[in-house]
Formats: sequence, C-alpha cells, structure tokens
Amino acid sequence: MEANQTFTMIKPDAVTNGHIGAILNKITAAGFRIKALKMTQFTTGDAEAFYAVHNERPFFGELVSFMTSGPIVAAVLEKENAVNDFRTLIGATNPAEAAEGTIRKLYATSMGENAVHGSDSDENAAIEIAFHFSGREQF
Ligand code: RTP
Ligand code: MG
Repeated sequence: MEANQTFTMIKPDAVTNGHIGAILNKITAAGFRIKALKMTQFTTGDAEAFYAVHNERPFFGELVSFMTSGPIVAAVLEKENAVNDFRTLIGATNPAEAAEGTIRKLYATSMGENAVHGSDSDENAAIEIAFHFSGREQF
C-alpha cells in the first residue's frame, strides 16, 4: 500500500504529565516518520473550529475546555496505511477499553483526557494537517 499521512496531537494531559518523549518514541518505534512537529496551544475559537464535527455532542464544552487548558504537540505522521495503523497504536477512545500496550492504555487518564488524537480518515487527516501546518512546516 502507498505511504500516506495522518495527523496527531499529544493532548494537554499527556504534555502536563511529562509523556511527550515516551509517546513520540512509541510512534517512531511503530514505523511512523515525523513529517511535521510543533508545540502549540488552541484558543477557544481554534478548538471549536477543529472539533466542529462534535459541536452538537454533550461533551463538546468539556472537550473545548480541556483542549485549550494547556499546550499540545501537533504532528504529521507518514507510513503505509497511516490512519488505520495509528488508530490501532493509540487504542480505544476510552482508556479503560484500550488494548494492552496502546498509547491510551499506557498514558490516558479518562475518556475525555485521553492523551492523544488520531485522524479518523484520509480526508480528515488532510483537513487537520492543513489546520495546523503551513506547507513550509511540512518536510
Ligand atoms: P480523537 O478524535 O481525539 O482521536 O478521539 P476519537 O476519534 O477516539 O474520539 P471522538 O469520538 O472523535 O471524540 C473526540 C474526543 O472527544 C472526547 N470525548 N469525550 N466524555 C465523553 O463521552 C467523550 N467522548 C469523546 C475525547 O477526548 C475524544 O478523544
Ligand atoms: Mg475522532
């Protein structure tokens, strides 16, 4: 299969808890190449726009509040079958249901504060990458 890209964020809980290095190490050990990387922080407007697809959900306010609560690390990752393989590496949304060895099993604290984001489709990966990175920031 052709190499393709996904988008990830190390969320504020994992940044605050000191897991940036461990998470990036797991990502590269699993064969993903880092094509773009930065520490940044969402404004409320940014988070509302990024998560617009969830704006009718009951957890939307909590999600925006959490995602703006501290810095994140955003990255573009490349690998064959990147979107699906990365979803497997991070595990289920709820860490209590995440498989052993997955990033969420290891580093997430709750359903809301679940350590990492992973794009859910090639189409959304492209949208999310463009949201965070200019062409000059991608290698
Ligand atoms: P993500 O987008 O962050 O990779 O997570 P996901 O696909 O596994 O989950 P999604 O359904 O897209 O939800 C986005 C994020 O919203 C928070 N959430 N909280 N309290 C809740 O019931 C609840 N449900 C979702 C999580 O932070 C989830 O990652
Ligand atoms: Mg999602």
